[in-house]
Amino acid sequence: MANILGIGNATLDIINKVAGYPVEDSEVRTISQSVVRGGNVANTLVILNQLGHNCTWGGVCVNDPFGQQIIADLNSYAINTNYCRLESQGSVPTSYVTLNQHNGSRTIVHHRNLPEFSFTDFQAIDLRTFDWIHFEGRNVTEIGKMLARIRQIYPDITISLEVEKPRPNIENLFSQVDYLLFSKIFAQFHTNNAALFLQNIHKFSAANLICAWGVDGAYALDTAGNISHSSAYPPSKVVDTLGAGDTFNAGIIDSLSKYHNLTTALSHACQLAGKKCGQVGFKGLVKY
Ligand code: FRU
Repeated sequence: MANILGIGNATLDIINKVAGYPVEDSEVRTISQSVVRGGNVANTLVILNQLGHNCTWGGVCVNDPFGQQIIADLNSYAINTNYCRLESQGSVPTSYVTLNQHNGSRTIVHHRNLPEFSFTDFQAIDLRTFDWIHFEGRNVTEIGKMLARIRQIYPDITISLEVEKPRPNIENLFSQVDYLLFSKIFAQFHTNNAALFLQNIHKFSAANLICAWGVDGAYALDTAGNISHSSAYPPSKVVDTLGAGDTFNAGIIDSLSKYHNLTTALSHACQLAGKKCGQVGFKGLVKY
């Protein structure tokens, strides 16, 4: 099993389950409400923990009851939060999620009022024990410095970068990592064809490229330019798609950290993401 460090967000998710997506300027009642910990990297680590890996989180949180709830949740999965930067000002990043019971769609309104994890924070982490470091592609300049530090001091650590949303100059990071994990939304800013998207990125990045493609599964392009595809594994009923992409990323990291090939990793990640869509939240997703 691998020692994995994840750098990125942990959030508070206020999830309102509704019978159908509301019409604008209407008033609807929730079926239920839950207030839980979320965040891309945090979700990915929670799944990786269930898959048996030792996980550490690097991110920013607030020292208030919501922040404490977030840390307590991560600790309940034995995720090391010692490198978390605790702020006394600001509020925890909060997502107001409308979860449609009818089809499992999740619509997110996100509020952020907190600085990002910085290179200075990162420098305090003892990297020696890590096999794999996974980044959420957020604060590009600071992440660039973190990547350079890893490459300089511990060139053997495997690095993955999630590219979910367009951010200024994020392409500058594409050649500094081993695996790029793209979202469908990011790809669609460029083209609606996953294979073409990956082939275009391949022209200027030496990384292995992976892109989730929703109900059409996922695609990968290795460093030699070979493409692979996995179909999706939809559950009998889709109930909750919140964090399906984060789960997919965990499946990829899990497989590749065990030296499986990209085709196997794609299929494993699609199965895991499909399973997640069939259940609410992340608890008990993996039973081993
Ligand atoms: C799901 C998620 C939520 C979080 C939001 C942040 O992928 O990580 O848990 O609130 O995305 O963008």
